[in-house]
Amino acid sequence: MRPMTAKWLQIVLVGGAATLLAAWIAVAATSAAVPAPEALWKSIKTLKQQHAIMPGSRPFQAGSRVADVYTVDLSNGPASRIIGPKGKITSVTRYPAGSLLVKENYDRARKLTSVAAMLKIDGYDRDDRNWLMASYSPAGKVLSYGKVSTCIACHRMVSKADFVFAPPPLQMLPVSVWKAFFPTQAISPTYRKLLASHPEAVIGGARP
Ligand code: HEC
Repeated sequence: MRPMTAKWLQIVLVGGAATLLAAWIAVAATSAAVPAPEALWKSIKTLKQQHAIMPGSRPFQAGSRVADVYTVDLSNGPASRIIGPKGKITSVTRYPAGSLLVKENYDRARKLTSVAAMLKIDGYDRDDRNWLMASYSPAGKVLSYGKVSTCIACHRMVSKADFVFAPPPLQMLPVSVWKAFFPTQAISPTYRKLLASHPEAVIGGARP
């Protein structure tokens, strides 16, 4: 009886080890695609050094709030290649995995106030188009990272464009929407003027 028991024990141990290995491979494969916040910040800094302005945007274009009176949008290769030929952000309906979009926020004095980013990762968040959302201080301190519900709730308004907004004055949100998300933040006077002069560009609410 003794050798038989040993045989069974061997089968169980080998089988168990194989199962553990398979589970480990599965976990490693998914987590490998999700960068650490510091690694994403590095990619953002590289785009900035390369002056990789997102096609369809302009450096120091109008932003919406006093915290982002001016914005600079950056994009990496996969994102730029899908927007570039179309020339318009609103014409893109799906971004490929690996797409990285960045919005640098500057105040009235053109001082950097914060940096927001979205990175498309295959299978990361199937309910919300697989975007990892992140925000950083000007020095790279992580302010939010992951499936950030506030970012997603607003960006979902442009689900036709795969959660990517076109910059003002092409697309704008009513003051009431900004206030709902950021009650303490003041709206940029330039944005208010653009809202008044481009009522057709306002989305996410009946009136500016
Ligand atoms: C209240 C709505 C709202 C919220 C909340 C919001 N965004 Fe945005 N975001 C916008 C709009 C509108 C634009 C277009 C540029 C502009 O209006 O300044 C934009 C632009 C961007 C861009 C440039 C790409 C694009 O879509 O144009 C990135 C990247 C971005 N946001 C990331 C984030 C992240 C990360 C968060 C959360 C930390 C966030 N956003 C929260 C409305 C929002």
